[in-house]
Amino acid sequence: MNIKINGKIVPITSSGDTPLLWVIRDELNLTGTKFGCGQAQCGACTVHIEGSPTRSCSYPVKFLGTKEVTTIEGMDDKITHAIQKAWVDNQVPQCGYCQIGNVMTVKALLEDTKKPTDKDIDNAMGGHICRCGTYQRIKAAIHQAASSLA
Ligand code: FES
Ligand code: FES
Repeated sequence: MNIKINGKIVPITSSGDTPLLWVIRDELNLTGTKFGCGQAQCGACTVHIEGSPTRSCSYPVKFLGTKEVTTIEGMDDKITHAIQKAWVDNQVPQCGYCQIGNVMTVKALLEDTKKPTDKDIDNAMGGHICRCGTYQRIKAAIHQAASSLA
């Protein structure tokens, strides 16, 4: 089958029941997206499907159809650059493992909500687990990114 990912149509040989995460990492070698729990519990594997944050570890690739996937490797726009700068300025990552998934959700949050409140951030980011406990830095960085885009 073919899938649409990061602006390209790409042929894949994985079976339809294969979780999208395995296709992304093992077949397409896009290793920015991480495997954490494999059970839709941690958010490390978050990608966008048609712009919505989705846990790729629990999404059979056959469900994609013509929907477009975007991974961190395909993100290159004003909001993404604002997030990137805020992450650096606030020294958000510790080990870094959870951060790609977080960034994917933050991008969708800032697309929908130009000036998110703490509550908006808690609601959007609540499903992301960071074993290093960077939650407060993530929140500060989201506020900075939003302000810089205003
Ligand atoms: S690896 Fe998918 S949610 Fe944890
Ligand atoms: S920075 Fe280490 S798990 Fe989040």
